Amino acid sequence: MTRSSPLVVVILAAGLGTRMKSGLSKVLHKVAGKPMIRWSLDAVAPLEPDRTIVVVSPGQDDVRLAVSDVAETAIQETALGTGHAVKAARDMIAPLASTGGTVLVLYGDTPLITTQTLRRLLETREAEGGPAAVVLGFEPADPALYGRLVTTSDGGLDRIVEARDATEAERAIGLCNGGMMAIDGAVAMDLLDRIGNRNVKQEYYLTDLVGIARAEGRTCRVVTCREIETMGVDSRAGLARAEDAMQHRLRAAAMDAGVTLIGSETIFMSHDTRLGRDVVVHPHVVFASGVTISDGVEIRSFCHLEGASVETGAQIGPFARLRPGAKIEADAHIGNYVEIKNATVASGAKINHLSYIGDASVGAKANVGAGTITCNYDGFNKHQTVIGAGAFIGSNTSLVAPVSIGNGAITGAGSTITKDVPADAIAVERSETRTIPTGASRFRTKAAKAKAETSSKT
Ligand code: UD1
Ligand code: MG
Repeated sequence: MTRSSPLVVVILAAGLGTRMKSGLSKVLHKVAGKPMIRWSLDAVAPLEPDRTIVVVSPGQDDVRLAVSDVAETAIQETALGTGHAVKAARDMIAPLASTGGTVLVLYGDTPLITTQTLRRLLETREAEGGPAAVVLGFEPADPALYGRLVTTSDGGLDRIVEARDATEAERAIGLCNGGMMAIDGAVAMDLLDRIGNRNVKQEYYLTDLVGIARAEGRTCRVVTCREIETMGVDSRAGLARAEDAMQHRLRAAAMDAGVTLIGSETIFMSHDTRLGRDVVVHPHVVFASGVTISDGVEIRSFCHLEGASVETGAQIGPFARLRPGAKIEADAHIGNYVEIKNATVASGAKINHLSYIGDASVGAKANVGAGTITCNYDGFNKHQTVIGAGAFIGSNTSLVAPVSIGNGAITGAGSTITKDVPADAIAVERSETRTIPTGASRFRTKAAKAKAETSSKT
């Protein structure tokens, strides 16, 4: 979007969020692995604002830190209401009095708002004869405590009345305030300064700005959106609802992009999960943050992946765990109860059962037998294991790192390997098997006799 007039975005996050009952600021609670405030910031970024300000309360250094790379912060000393909160950004809003432009206000606890909707709000504000304010409206199933939008006969917006201050007739209005508002920058500061606090909560309501502008003969408008986008989070239950809605959205986007999700409701993604075309995901798979899956990969049930990449044609699971730094190359197989951490598994390699492979590289087409463990940690440091291309690691091998197994080498089942094995060598570390002929039957006879003698005495 090429902008002809300045845009200042103000995101309100100074509310106390007491109902979260948390040591963490409300807007830092995560939805699909991303803090709520970052969802708001990411939604506004494509609008290319000239300035983006997050309004925080004096103690919220955690929020300041969490947004400092993309936004400025302003402090609202006391939470005296949404109108008062916007004025914390006075220094950034006041210059618009001479240049015009738009102040876009949104909340830090509405993670489902989309760029598309914000853009419609902005376009309506910036249209010919731009209204003083454009408010985001929606029609909730239950209007409850939302502010009600009182419209004019020509479809404009006349005023907003908070539910607590509304008459019965006003409470019957179905069109509600979603909280986002685009205000004409030329008059924004003047209008904000005239908001009073004569209401039930004795707060400075941002919503009063509409009535004040109308009293001056200015027009105000409403742009509507689906209820889901305005969903605010005030409690843990609200957070869970937002998570459900976001998961629904992420799954829909993945399926649109050519991913098959079997039992989609049981598959959980992160904000940054990247799934290629013809990826098939079976039920009960969790993608924590930082996962990239290339085209044609199959992920079977009950896998957990984080900070991992999987290349074309690889098969993962069921019951596999890919931890940060796992890089699974094309056509490799990672099977059940296999954990991979900070390790590259080259193309065509197989680690099919019950293994831990950490701080390692596994060469192309190597076969790692059941129960193989890289002993990567000595209690102080982590050490590397290198398994060469085409190597065959016998079942239940312990590879005590640092250690390397050459290309094409073999280790015997049950070996504890503490020294490097050259290419094409066989390494076996195992005591000889001693076989005692008829030993088992002699043992049983002796044991049975001893037991009979003891019980006859008692
Ligand atoms: C507000 C609207 C209401 C709308 C609803 C939509 C007002 C007066 N009312 O009500 O019309 O239907 O949102 O969800 O605006 N905040 C501050 N400082 C303050 C007070 C609030 O930063 O002093 C922040 C909060 O952190 C929050 C946002 O502003 O992110 C909204 O505040 P909240 O108290 O949730 O407003 P509502 O009562 O829900
Ligand atoms: Mg609210």
